Amino acid sequence: VAVEGSRRPAAVLAMAAGLPDRFFPPPVRQRLGELVDVVPDLVVRDFSTTSARAAMAQAEILISGWDCPPVTAAVLDAAPHLRAIVHTAGSVKGHVTAACWERGIVVSTAASANALPVAEYTLAAILFAAKGVRQAERAYRSRRAVVDLVAEYPWIGTYHRTVGIVGASRIGRRVLELLRPFDLVLSIYDPYLSAPEAAALGARLVGLDELLAGCDVVSLHAPLLPGTRHLVDAAGLARMPDHATLINTARGGLVDQEALVAELVAGRINAVIDVTEPEVLPPDSPLFDLPNVMLTPHMAGAQGNELHRLGAAAVDEVRRYVAGVPFAHPVVVRDLAQMA
Ligand SMILES: NC(=O)c1ccc[n+]([C@@H]2O[C@H](COP(=O)([O-])OP(=O)(O)OC[C@H]3O[C@@H](n4cnc5c(N)ncnc54)[C@H](O)[C@@H]3O)[C@@H](O)[C@H]2O)c1
Repeated sequence: VAVEGSRRPAAVLAMAAGLPDRFFPPPVRQRLGELVDVVPDLVVRDFSTTSARAAMAQAEILISGWDCPPVTAAVLDAAPHLRAIVHTAGSVKGHVTAACWERGIVVSTAASANALPVAEYTLAAILFAAKGVRQAERAYRSRRAVVDLVAEYPWIGTYHRTVGIVGASRIGRRVLELLRPFDLVLSIYDPYLSAPEAAALGARLVGLDELLAGCDVVSLHAPLLPGTRHLVDAAGLARMPDHATLINTARGGLVDQEALVAELVAGRINAVIDVTEPEVLPPDSPLFDLPNVMLTPHMAGAQGNELHRLGAAAVDEVRRYVAGVPFAHPVVVRDLAQMA
């Protein structure tokens, strides 16, 4: 819907080439064009080119995406009208620099829209882990004969299974919401959460050691920050009960990966791993071959048609900005230190 009678500020897209078509299918692109003047066919990857400089000299809104270069003081000096950065993805830490905050640029993120697919992936991973699906599948495939589930897999099942969530982040909270209908026992660890807040989310607030020792499935949703590197270390992994599953869709650096590989090679626990250090893993990493590991290529976040959700979220934020309404998903500078 066009914002009738209102001005159409100039906007610039800055992200990897090809991404705008993935974020904004034609009807959404049209909606965006009704709200703002976007320089046609310009997708900035380098703010120093002639076309980028010309566009930034007019721009009021920067619509950023993956691979947007840093918006430095020099970029801002050449963009005197810039007032807003609307990010079509999650973390803004890669491109929104201190200079942006100093100049009072307002910033929005699509992290909440990106949280949904991560939470869906996690829900599926938790339910399959609790049921022992991958272990039973493996046994059936290799034996091509009856698998005596009752005798061999007494530990499986989703009834009253204990699930621990690390981090009441956007994603962690969404995972807890999705887990509500099930007969699971939920715990959460987050140093910034109170016990009543945890209870309101349907989980019991516990310490990290207690969570690791007491949960059959542990899912990591904390941001990688200086204080969360190797949050789950060798001692923490050793606390996990036999047959437990560690799910990591957050960041590889949250886990001591060497210690994790050692535990997984020993075969005592299982893992669902979407993120590693480094990304991509070296071809000889044992994680590629271990039967008790499900390894995916950093795909839990928005992919395929889920990018349309991010694009729609960004266009909604542009609409708000043009209408003079505060962002629904602002990034607030004082929260940054705790944010992904
Ligand atoms: N696999 C993917 O494709 C994918 C996609 C999106 C996000 N992620 C990752 O998922 C994680 C969550 O993302 P988000 O956008 O929901 O994060 P977020 O920015 O919403 O998380 C911030 C919250 O994390 C919690 N937190 C901070 N420090 C903590 C600590 N020491 N221990 C436990 N909790 C702590 C706090 O509640 C804080 O408010 C991040 O690691 C992010 O990088 C992965």
